Amino acid sequence: MSKKTLTSEITKKNLIAWDEAAPIHARHNMTWLLEAVKAPDFTCLDATEMGVLTELDVVGKNVAQMCCNNGRELISVKNMGAARCVGFDGAQGFVDQARALAEAAGQDTEFVCCDAYDIPAQYQGQFDLVTITIGVLGWMPDLNAFFAETAKLLKPGGAIFIYEHHPIVVMVEPGAADAPIKWELSYFRTDPYVDSSGLDYYGGETYEATPNASFSHKMSDIIMAGVRAGMAVEQFEELPNHISHMWWNVEASGIGLPMSYILVLRG
Ligand SMILES: C[S@@+](CC[C@H](N)C(=O)[O-])C[C@H]1O[C@@H](n2cnc3c(N)ncnc32)[C@H](O)[C@@H]1O
Repeated sequence: MSKKTLTSEITKKNLIAWDEAAPIHARHNMTWLLEAVKAPDFTCLDATEMGVLTELDVVGKNVAQMCCNNGRELISVKNMGAARCVGFDGAQGFVDQARALAEAAGQDTEFVCCDAYDIPAQYQGQFDLVTITIGVLGWMPDLNAFFAETAKLLKPGGAIFIYEHHPIVVMVEPGAADAPIKWELSYFRTDPYVDSSGLDYYGGETYEATPNASFSHKMSDIIMAGVRAGMAVEQFEELPNHISHMWWNVEASGIGLPMSYILVLRG
């Protein structure tokens, strides 16, 4: 089986699992989000993310988001003054939520349902900036192909902005603040982590989900995949910020691991 076919088989199953999670997430966040996005200054972005996006000067820029989930982050970027905004996600349930939120916000932000490895050609070369945030890269079986596909969306000189949880925290079994720190996985692990207990990181509900496969890519693999896609590193910073819904135990431990990072790649 070719790498491309294998990647597609994995992402197809993962996207079924994400679609199953969509109504469960909606129970936790859609009611308040549908009200909150009505404010013209609505944002769900933290100060770090806002700061980098301000430095990248999103005002008047065309911005795309890979794996945008319910679109709340892209709606926030649009509120910063971005021009055309397009979010891509492979789970129809989340795309439907994103469209409902954009409508409630009175925005023309566009949401497209497609696999990140198969973005329609009409979007190539259209964007000044592509964003990738919190909990995306771990779902990509083939990082090189993912960055190549992402880079194709950019206009010449465009940038990719990544704000992700740091791969080192993936070594620790996630848990509540009082859960012990258990070093479970090798940093150099290449096998997928296959799970069927569900993707409800909002409510912590477990359910019988379609088995899904995630990956713990090394920091060097992430950076080099960007470089292989023809991008140069413009900014890279490892941060203490806890940006996931999972590693409260690492945050509370005070052991000083990097919990997230900012990476800006320029074409
Ligand atoms: C953990 S969420 C993170 C997204 C966003 N940063 C957030 O916080 O909501 C991951 C998203 O990636 C999407 N996704 C996962 N694999 C994908 C793929 N191969 N193609 C397109 N979307 C994908 C899922 O549907 C999900 O909405």
